[in-house]
Amino acid sequence: MLSAQELNQLTQQTFAGATYGVFINNQWQGADRTFPVENPATGEVLVTIPDAGAPEAAAAIDAAYAALPAWSALPAIQRADLMRKAAALMLEQRERLATIMTLEQGKPISESRGEIAYAASFLSWFAGEAERVYGQIVPASSANKRILVMRQPVGVCVLITPWNFPAAMLTRKLGPALAAGCTAICKPAEQTPLSALELGRIFIEAGFPPGVVNIVPTSDPVPFSETIFADERVRKISFTGSTEVGRILIANSARTVKRMSMELGGNAPFIIFDDADLIPAVKGAVASKFRNAGQTCICANRIFVQRGIYDRFAEAFTREVAAMPVGNGLQPDSLIGPLIDQPARQKIERHVADATAHGAQILTGGAPLPADHNPTGTFWKPTVLANASSQMLVAQEETFGPVAPLIPFSEEDEVLAQANGTPFGLAAYFYTRDVSRVLRIAERLEFGIIGANDALPSTAQAPFGGVKQSGLGREGGSVGIDEYLEVKYVSLGL
Ligand code: SIN
Repeated sequence: MLSAQELNQLTQQTFAGATYGVFINNQWQGADRTFPVENPATGEVLVTIPDAGAPEAAAAIDAAYAALPAWSALPAIQRADLMRKAAALMLEQRERLATIMTLEQGKPISESRGEIAYAASFLSWFAGEAERVYGQIVPASSANKRILVMRQPVGVCVLITPWNFPAAMLTRKLGPALAAGCTAICKPAEQTPLSALELGRIFIEAGFPPGVVNIVPTSDPVPFSETIFADERVRKISFTGSTEVGRILIANSARTVKRMSMELGGNAPFIIFDDADLIPAVKGAVASKFRNAGQTCICANRIFVQRGIYDRFAEAFTREVAAMPVGNGLQPDSLIGPLIDQPARQKIERHVADATAHGAQILTGGAPLPADHNPTGTFWKPTVLANASSQMLVAQEETFGPVAPLIPFSEEDEVLAQANGTPFGLAAYFYTRDVSRVLRIAERLEFGIIGANDALPSTAQAPFGGVKQSGLGREGGSVGIDEYLEVKYVSLGL
């Protein structure tokens, strides 16, 4: 356990000599205003950084547009080499990057280390894909014609990323964009801009040409958005965040008809059938529900447990959850860090109060940490609610916090109707040993990502994304690069 003084020293050392600015053309620029970046575990200001407005957004577009012809013309193998170099540097500097991530985001340091490796994997994996952007020669309908299909970069892309995975969500977009030959303007979440800005430093060190990657931190997304939506040169927007904001971006993009990729909200069901292996199901549910204190778009939100296994599952699951250490993410044994802010805590309070008022029982947790261990009020004890139902707020809305409602069910059809009974369709999970049921359920779940006896399905090789109001397009996997490529054909008369 680190003392308060040791935590303080670690913070000071991490930022000693670090300067952050708006990252344009491989240079750090100032802006008229600044904004503070705070540690959600303590409320202290970590650093104060330039707050980009419309002029900086416009300068970033100029830089990305100017860099586009040379970057897209660079042989794919050379783009791939630079991307692999950046990935290797991220891994080399993993400890520092992970510490910065925990300081600004709050997640346990073990998860931050994991996220840096996960983030680097999108650069190295898509470096391989850069070398495989193939075209086609299609048989034509007459002997004196040939049809050649080619795939070319979309152009300047704007990548808007969330606070919950400040490095991996950026590289999950940047990896395919750079591999395709696009240039980028990245707008990190205002709560967590430092992890993104640190990547700017890494791109310089790796040897990326100026203007290929630009990073624009801002506390006010409105001038940034107005600038990028009005500019014809921006051809693509990729956004990860809430469905509410996604809808606004989709509507705004109509003005200049930009390509859009959206990774939006979820409401993941996690189904445990009677024949599941109990211990892997318990461990999987803990891993899925409590990753990043429940603050991921694919966290289990509704845990459906078949009645034959319900009591045994509830008991074993509650035992595991009650033992999870809660505290500052820099403490090596911490498994649950703070929530990102006060509105996040208020949402959880509302969900727990509504569930208990409608008959759910608290098996563990159900409250914040006591005030003397809770400097920001955002540390919430991991919570299990028994006998919850699909009608409760906790099942209707995405909780985005460490609260696990257990909902009993009897029949397969009944649980499928409840699981699919949401406008969202990002991730769903189920545990069973019946191989026929695996395919039957996987086919009937209306979600883009299915974990069958697997609670952690995310990986660079897989096409991450949702159906219904959970999004548009896929990130990762061999289809991930298509989001950054235009298809063109040449009809050649001989
Ligand atoms: C997210 O919350 O959308 C990202 C989760 C992941 O990549 O596993």
